[in-house]
Amino acid sequence: MNDKLWTGRFSKPLSDTANDYNASIHFDSRMYRQDIIGSMAHAAMLSATHIISEEDGEKLIQGLEEILRELENGQLLIDETCEDIHSFVEQELTRRLGDTGRRLHTARSRNDQVAVDVRLALRDEADQVIALLKELIGVIVDKARAYESAIMPGYTHLQRAQPITFGHHLMAYAMMFLRDIGRMKDARGRMNVCPLGSGALAGTTFPIDRTMTAGALGFSGACVNSIDGVSDRDFCVEFASAIALIMTHLSRFSEEIILWCSWEFRFVELDDAYSTGSSIMPQKKNPDIAELTRGKAGRAVGNLVTLLTMLKGLPLAYNKDMQEDKEAIFDSFDTVEMALRVFSPMLATMRVKTDNMRKAAAMGFINATDCADYLVGKGLPFRSAYKATGALVAYLIECGKTLEDASLEDYRRFCDLFDEDVYEAINLENCVKKRTSLGATAPEEVARQIHYVELTLKAEE
Ligand code: ARG
Repeated sequence: MNDKLWTGRFSKPLSDTANDYNASIHFDSRMYRQDIIGSMAHAAMLSATHIISEEDGEKLIQGLEEILRELENGQLLIDETCEDIHSFVEQELTRRLGDTGRRLHTARSRNDQVAVDVRLALRDEADQVIALLKELIGVIVDKARAYESAIMPGYTHLQRAQPITFGHHLMAYAMMFLRDIGRMKDARGRMNVCPLGSGALAGTTFPIDRTMTAGALGFSGACVNSIDGVSDRDFCVEFASAIALIMTHLSRFSEEIILWCSWEFRFVELDDAYSTGSSIMPQKKNPDIAELTRGKAGRAVGNLVTLLTMLKGLPLAYNKDMQEDKEAIFDSFDTVEMALRVFSPMLATMRVKTDNMRKAAAMGFINATDCADYLVGKGLPFRSAYKATGALVAYLIECGKTLEDASLEDYRRFCDLFDEDVYEAINLENCVKKRTSLGATAPEEVARQIHYVELTLKAEE
């Protein structure tokens, strides 16, 4: 049994292929809960406004409650031959309640119904993503605190640039994920308005109470314009966009972890529980989880593009194209949810090889800026100090020496302002300690960043 909702005007059924093409039940059935809750609020409002009798209202709510319970405990299975989840619930309700079931759709269209369902679903999913992001930031902060003074080379252009601490580097990611929480919250705020009562597009002649349904479903209010109510999918775009950026951040982080795991870096080692081997090369330990995360960022970006492209040519109001929103947003959510669930423990169990980081920092003249700054301290203009240090570095590369093992004579070939205290100035530990400007790499500054992030997270609760 799967009577179409629109029988009456039609003299023959939809062809099988058109029916398969048109159906959305295989991906919208995951919104069964939201669909039923939305219908319960609608039924309660229809009864409160005397559009249907109190008795019918009660029967409808009870029937919907039963369906929900039975779906949840597995007693009732979703009939996959129905067109969509809305048809299934209404069909099941009518099978149980007869004419009373047929009254549920008074003053409602599937256009406002589906818009409510999706908003309710995304609202929950946004909360889940925010919770997972908080967990990840917690892991980052713990690691950053543990490696607050662990020196590593900081890079620009993937060339060794200046000494930083691993804690400082990690906290950069904490900032990205903190902004991601903000973006997800913003998206959640804007999606949290109720389109129910928009009807097909023009509203309804029945004396409905939109504020009542909006309040019952926990929305901040009813959306203002009924045409916008059924045709707005901005909230899907914002949701997918926030996820695309989270996945982009996870992907950058993954890329670094992949590099750090390589024999070329050896800065970290992933726990065996988060690494894979090779079928042929017995020595291999591969960072597949990080690679997959980097790869899956592509899906998230793709879904965002899918949504924008789907929307860009649509005339108002509802068009069936909009059915395509669901697979994109649900795939984005599933992707980021899985990625965050595996990324946090992978990071938490990652071993950090501080000795290798320190060794890498000793090569590559990453204290050259400090050498130039030293000359500035002796009164030389920065541009001249830069030039003298550049020439010194070129000379030392020729001799196979570092700034640490160059003699004072070597230094003085390029500027007579150099003195014994230059060795203090270019000592990597000192270079890091002296960078105390706001947001900089000195351990006390990194501690301040950690404190800021922790306070911000607390304020979120
Ligand atoms: N499955 C449809 C969707 O996802 C539900 C709305 C159908 N509305 C309509 N007028 N055909 O968009």
